[in-house]
Amino acid sequence: MNDIFRKKTMSDLLANSQKKELNRSLSLLDLIFLGVGCVIGTGIFVVTGVVAAESAGPAISISFVIAGIACALAAFCYAEFSSAVPVSGSVYTYTYATLGEVFAFLIGWDLMLEYVLAISAVSTGWSAYFRSLIAGFGLHVPEIVSSAPGTGKGGIVDLPAMLIILLITALVSRGVKESTRFNNVMVLIKLAIILIFIVVGVGYVKPENWTPFAPFGFDGIITSAATVFFAYIGFDVIATASEEVKSPKRNMPIGIIASLAICTILYIGVSLILTGMVPYQQLNVADPVAMALRIVGQDSAAGIISVGAVAGITTVLLALIYAQVRLTYAMSRDGLLPKKMGVVHKKYKTPLFNTWLTGFVAAGIAGFVDLTTLAHLVNIGTLAAFTLVSLAIIVLRKKHPEIQASFRVPFVPVLPVISALLCLYLSLSLPSITWIAFLIWLSVGFIVYMFYSRKHSNLN
Ligand code: ALA
Repeated sequence: MNDIFRKKTMSDLLANSQKKELNRSLSLLDLIFLGVGCVIGTGIFVVTGVVAAESAGPAISISFVIAGIACALAAFCYAEFSSAVPVSGSVYTYTYATLGEVFAFLIGWDLMLEYVLAISAVSTGWSAYFRSLIAGFGLHVPEIVSSAPGTGKGGIVDLPAMLIILLITALVSRGVKESTRFNNVMVLIKLAIILIFIVVGVGYVKPENWTPFAPFGFDGIITSAATVFFAYIGFDVIATASEEVKSPKRNMPIGIIASLAICTILYIGVSLILTGMVPYQQLNVADPVAMALRIVGQDSAAGIISVGAVAGITTVLLALIYAQVRLTYAMSRDGLLPKKMGVVHKKYKTPLFNTWLTGFVAAGIAGFVDLTTLAHLVNIGTLAAFTLVSLAIIVLRKKHPEIQASFRVPFVPVLPVISALLCLYLSLSLPSITWIAFLIWLSVGFIVYMFYSRKHSNLN
């Protein structure tokens, strides 16, 4: 039974990461752009509106601060890991080396849920801004084929969301890689439209829209923090780039923390201005940021926002599909998932089967499940991963005092414990149906591990 706790050794991981030393090409700035590129998307452009209208009111800005603090604490732990053990695979690999195989498998299984559902969730935001964009040209996609059932809009399937996933899957499966330069341009566009929104919007803020500031009370603020947490997802993805970064020991921690800081500041700014421009009750729409500008008569600014959002959300999708494929590829290479998922196509040099599996599953879900339900599930998965990373830091310090990470989390074990508790606290305010689904998913994972992965593991 002890075999389920077997670990990859630190020296194996380090040897692997040193082999790759020659490919290190990403600079600190590239890394920050990579982080901001994967983070800013459907969360700020769509989820903000629903949450402000239904559970936070203008106090959604406080929810962003709380979710940001939880992410920052977890980010410290990610930063220490990625500077100590700069290998790809992120938290899955860290857990394999510290807590053991069964935990690594479960966290990988959990991240699969996070990434696949995040792809679906982000694509529904893409669909919303795409519709808003083409509506500007007088083209309307009927609601029945452009929103998921159960959203009260009479939709039965969200076709644009499904199509964009399949399109990007096709690109990724052919080895089209988001180049650093392309990503940097996209991030600049994204930052530009957010700044346009802030600069144009601030002139239309009516302070009376901020009273009452917290109509749903403290509970509302916390519940909302657990939902808007979605907007921060993705900064952990940059930890997966650590094998490709120059001077990872210095740049990884700065890159992770800086991208998080930039996003937090922008989120607070956007949410304050949005709720200042329009009474919060009106924000429950699919494209709140563009809608607020239309309400105040700034139609061209609204159009620019929609173009930028469509472009910007596309890069989040690309990054998430990559992250999912890389994760399942790593797990398959370690023998924990079927070998077929690790087979690389001769011509395209990508795990073709694995990539299309990801695309079809994510597209199938995106068509039929609404954004809020998806965001809750993504969040519970991510909060669980953050909790484990925080705890794994304590294990790393105890078991491997010899490893000298350039970035060290201050006040260990106090800070990682606070981090884990805060993540747990936030996840407890997610709906019980989310918890049930999550626990079922983990139980299935445990069965798969016991009856398949444990026997097929390379460590066996
Ligand atoms: N943080 C990402 C987004 O908001 C998932 O789209």
